[in-house]
This record gives sequence, structure tokens and C-alpha cells, in this order.
Amino acid sequence: MNSPSTGPASQHEPEVRSAIAATRTSKLFEPVQLGSLAVKNRIVMPAMTRTLSPLGIPGTDSAAYYARRAKGGVGLIIAEGTWIPHDAAANEDDAPRMYGPQALKGWAEVVRQVHAEDTPIFSQLWHVGQMKQHMVEGLYAERPADYVPPRRVGPSGLFGGISQPLTHDGTAATQADLDSIVESYAKAAINAQQTGFDGVELHAAHGYLLDQFFWPGTNKRTDSYGGPMRNRIRLATEAVAEIRRATGPDLPISLRLSQWKVQDFKAKLFESPGDLEQFVAPLVDAGVTVFHCSQRRFWETEFGSDRNLAAWVQNISGRPAISVGSVAQTGEHIDTLMGQASGVSGIDRLLTMMDRGDFAMIAVGRGLLVDPEWPEKVREGRLDQLRVWNPDVLKSLI
Ligand SMILES: Cc1cc2nc3c(=O)[nH]c(=O)nc-3n(C[C@H](O)[C@H](O)[C@H](O)COP(=O)(O)O)c2cc1C
Repeated sequence: MNSPSTGPASQHEPEVRSAIAATRTSKLFEPVQLGSLAVKNRIVMPAMTRTLSPLGIPGTDSAAYYARRAKGGVGLIIAEGTWIPHDAAANEDDAPRMYGPQALKGWAEVVRQVHAEDTPIFSQLWHVGQMKQHMVEGLYAERPADYVPPRRVGPSGLFGGISQPLTHDGTAATQADLDSIVESYAKAAINAQQTGFDGVELHAAHGYLLDQFFWPGTNKRTDSYGGPMRNRIRLATEAVAEIRRATGPDLPISLRLSQWKVQDFKAKLFESPGDLEQFVAPLVDAGVTVFHCSQRRFWETEFGSDRNLAAWVQNISGRPAISVGSVAQTGEHIDTLMGQASGVSGIDRLLTMMDRGDFAMIAVGRGLLVDPEWPEKVREGRLDQLRVWNPDVLKSLI
């Protein structure tokens, strides 16, 4: 590394210095405990849908892809969103399933290769509810003309956001639907546990099924699943409790939540710490081990304070929280997926927040897609060697 007095400074010089400081002082590379699971450092690969598992079956390319990130030093992998065994769960054929012998065989190989690198891996359990298809152009295959979408269910048959008008697509879930959805979450969790996964994450963020129940805009029910917060989180709470009952006391259960939705970046699920308290307390009682608080930019703060969503959730819940959002990239992830360029960003702000104990772990999404060695390079202070975002990495499981 060049010092300012001995040669031309690299464009990442200040970041390189802070990364070296990080290896000595920051919490990034300290071990952390998630319930019964010891994790070697605080860097998470978050779930990232790739739709590269033909007909829902992860192949050997998936196993190698995840193993590369494990080898690169990430502390915990949360594998991409994976369909639970419910007829209305999926909206993409080539995103992976957590059921059926072939898919589970594929996952077993993923787990085997990741564990060979001494790294734990969770499965993210996913039901899209009324989200018909992904809203990110170009990332997903064109539908054939004769495509018949699966039935869509949600809280009230409504879909949309504040900045996008609500539409009447799909149907309101019956009690039988809700019971079978809860059962499907538990089946998927058992399948994940029996396949060797170290934990599961419920995808309850970004405007998908569980978030459609959380949000009063799309949940107009008048039964015990609608109305006050305790009712709107009932489906998620029942799913967590059933997973806990089915998998036993120790399997770490993460719940991913967000203020924002893919269909509405401005939506706010929580207007106050009180709202958050009503949300997290029943979920902790049901068995959540860790909360994964999804933000588009991790440094954006909540409720007029200098703390972000993960800091608030960790403080209120007493459970470890994972933060995320543009750690390694200067651009935000949806913009990047829509084709905007993104540069390598520094980590000073992150280290400040981690050093003061705001959240237990930090997830790095696109940084790990483009650079599987992101953790090792940061640990060794080689930030000048971090790879710049390249959209081509989305085309295959490299
Ligand atoms: C290609 C891609 C696919 C994604 N798929 C999922 C997903 O399946 N589940 C999920 O919770 N988040 C998903 N996300 C969001 C990421 O987990 C993460 O929150 C986001 O990329 C922000 O982190 P970053 O700025 O470090 O990339 C996806 C992001 C990308 C880039």
C-alpha cells in the first residue's frame, strides 16, 4: 500500500487505512452467537434470488457458488429465497424449492460444500403472496405467451403501495389457506433442518406475503388477522411458533423485516418505537432468534434518532439483529439491478455503528456477488483490490 508521503495515493486510500484499523479494533471480525449457533465473524451473505435453479432444483453450480463465498471468509450465508411447499408460494419457476427429493438433494450438496469451509448456512423461506412477478426488469426470464400464473392469495386480495394504486389482484386467504400456509412454513423448515441447514429465515419483508399481512394498506381484514398490529402479525407469529414446535428449541430462526417494499420505497410499517415494540415482542415469544432488518441504505436512521432500524430492533427485542444495505456499493441495490452503475464504498460509517454495538451482524449483498473474497480482502486491509460492480455477475452462478 502506498502511504500519502511515498507515492500516489490509491483512490481507496482512506478506506484501506480504516480496514487495517478494522482488523485490530472493529467488531466485524469478532465471533458472535445467534442463539445456539456460534458464528466466526459478523459478515452475512443475505438471501439473493438468482432464478438459476432450473425447475426449482439447485445444481452443482449453486453448491460451488455458495462454497466460494464461504471460502472467501463470510461468517454466515443465508441462501436465496426458497419456495415453501404451498401452491400459491412461487412466482418464478427457476427459483429453488425447499421440497421434493431432487431439490433437497441439490440443497444437501450446497450445505455439504459450505460446511466443508466451516461456515453455517440458513435457508430463506419464501411465499410471495400476491406479488405476481418480480418487478426488476431484465433480471427474470420473459413469460411465454401461454403462461398460466399460479393462484395468488394475500390478506385481502389487494396489492400495491402508497405511491402505486392498490389493485384487486388475487383473493383473500381463507382460514384453510392460512392454516396450510403455516403448515407449509413448518414443512419447509423441517426439510431445511433435515438437509443440514443451520437455521432458517422467514422472508417477512419487501412486500411479500407476510409483509402484505403486516401492512394496513394491503390488509383490510376484519377477522383476527387484520386490524391492530397484534392481529396483522398473527400469520407470521403462527408460522414462527409452528417452526419452533416442529424443529425443536435450538434451530436459529431469523425473521427478515423492512419498512420499505419493492412496490413502494416510501412505505413505513413502523411510525414509532411503540409500533416496533408491538411487532417484535410476540415474535420473540413465538421463537425468533435473530431479526434481519432490511434497509436499502444501512446508515438511514429511524424515529428522529441517530440509530437505524436494526439498532432499534436489537435494543427493543433483546435479540441480535442483522443490518444491511449498500455496505460495499455506492449505489442502492434496486437501482443497480435496473442498470445503474455502482462504485466501491468505504466502511468507516459501518465500523462506527458496529463499534458502538448498534447491531450484531452486517449483511453484504452485491459486494459478495461481485467479489466472493470481500470479507478476506477487508480483513487483510486490501480494499483497493475490491471488485467494482459488474451486472454480468447476475447472468450465471460464478
Ligand atoms: C440479485 C438480488 C436478489 C435478491 N433477492 C433477495 C431475496 O431472495 N430475498 C431477500 O430477502 N432479499 C433479496 N435481495 C436483497 C438483498 O438481500 C439485500 O438486502 C440487498 O441487495 C441490499 O444489500 P446490498 O446493498 O449489500 O446489495 C436481493 C438482492 C439482489 C441484488
